[in-house]
Amino acid sequence: MQDLIKAAMAARAKSHAPYSKFYVGAAMRDERGQVHAGCNIENAAYPQGWCAECSAIAHLVMSGAMQITEVAVLGNGDVLCTPCGGCRQKIREFAAGHVKIHCCTEAGVLLKSFTLDELLPASFGPENLK
Ligand code: THU
Repeated sequence: MQDLIKAAMAARAKSHAPYSKFYVGAAMRDERGQVHAGCNIENAAYPQGWCAECSAIAHLVMSGAMQITEVAVLGNGDVLCTPCGGCRQKIREFAAGHVKIHCCTEAGVLLKSFTLDELLPASFGPENLK
């Protein structure tokens, strides 16, 4: 888990969040064990910004991976930074319900781990469209 947390911290350092000043880093492990990270990127036209998880998923998919097997997220200080509702659904597209989401402090200390099912119960996913 430590490699994932370190990658999330490094990504957070690149966060572009001049408006909220809430700097977020996320890292996701894929089915091959490879780690993909991302930061939140805000925009002067506020709604156009996007979350750290979104950046990480983009990197994961562009690498050719199709599965998220573990996630780490961290924000400012000791705030419990769980993925927002939209990001929970985005993670759901590539992750099973048992996948762990580790929420850490800015310094990389684990605060709490959740499963995706805990954060997004009775979710709608790709199987619903089969
Ligand atoms: N943010 C994330 O990057 N991930 C989340 O799951 C929660 C919110 C970002 C979006 C925005 O740039 C800032 O945090 C404040 O909401």
